[in-house]
Amino acid sequence: MNIDLSGGRALVTGGASGIGAATARLLGELGARVVIADIDGAAARSALAETGAVGHVVGDVADAGAVEAMVAGAEDRLGGLDMVVNSAGIGDDLVPVHQQAPERWQRVVDVNLRGTYLVCRAAGRNMVARRSGAIVNVSSIVGLGAFPGRSAYGVAKAGVIHLTRTLACEWGPAGMRVNCIAPAYTMTPMVRSLLDRKVFDPAVIERRTPLGRLAQPEEMARAAAFLLSDWASYITGTVLPVDGGWSVYAAAGDVDKGPPLRD
Ligand SMILES: NC(=O)c1ccc[n+]([C@@H]2O[C@H](COP(=O)([O-])OP(=O)(O)OC[C@H]3O[C@@H](n4cnc5c(N)ncnc54)[C@H](O)[C@@H]3O)[C@@H](O)[C@H]2O)c1
Repeated sequence: MNIDLSGGRALVTGGASGIGAATARLLGELGARVVIADIDGAAARSALAETGAVGHVVGDVADAGAVEAMVAGAEDRLGGLDMVVNSAGIGDDLVPVHQQAPERWQRVVDVNLRGTYLVCRAAGRNMVARRSGAIVNVSSIVGLGAFPGRSAYGVAKAGVIHLTRTLACEWGPAGMRVNCIAPAYTMTPMVRSLLDRKVFDPAVIERRTPLGRLAQPEEMARAAAFLLSDWASYITGTVLPVDGGWSVYAAAGDVDKGPPLRD
């Protein structure tokens, strides 16, 4: 039996690009009907063909009124929602706290954490009433461990993990499941722009990653699809690192690339 999302109605935020677009496409391939939500209306429109999504809604996930309108628009288009993936997000400035503008800190927290909260809140209302639904939030390895210069993003993504756990406990009795994935460096436009600006060196990341490479967006999409599907029917409140082993690597220096050690 393969993962089958036939008949499922899904909203994917941040669906115009990167992990969100790959997830929207895969959910469609697995049988779901998908609406994408994004702040970038032009990109969302052009992602329709690429993702196979049946519609799009436009707005800022950090804006409570916009979120209510986007969720209502998706519910109208699909006749309700069974699944939500919260992939809308922005990166931060990579500056230490004492040099950071509080306004920028707040915006990063607002989009990544408040946005996830608002979308869960708006979409969850009808799911609770119908006593079914599955949500996947997108955290990060930066939500699992501290990265210097990434206080806003780290706080937001750690908050997404805790929000996920709280919602799993609040909504479990209503038959709903809420999980999150914690991606490591994934080759999306967000990461490509960091590479272009030479913010980090991919070779350094590869050497620090047990699987020795960066991820592709489709690898995040597969984890999200699994958590949304009946294959994960007894999984809720979990954070699934999709990180090539990044978060479990605790030794000093680079990953040993030699042959496996024998005792
Ligand atoms: N790429 C990575 O390495 C990586 C690693 C860990 C976690 N993540 C997380 O994965 C998610 C997707 O990232 P990505 O790399 O695909 O980025 P991306 O920039 O390719 O896509 C993000 C999408 O979110 C949309 N968006 C941004 N702000 C929004 C807002 N306020 N309201 C609505 N939509 C908004 C953008 O327009 C864009 O289409 C983010 O939450 C990000 O933090 C990414």
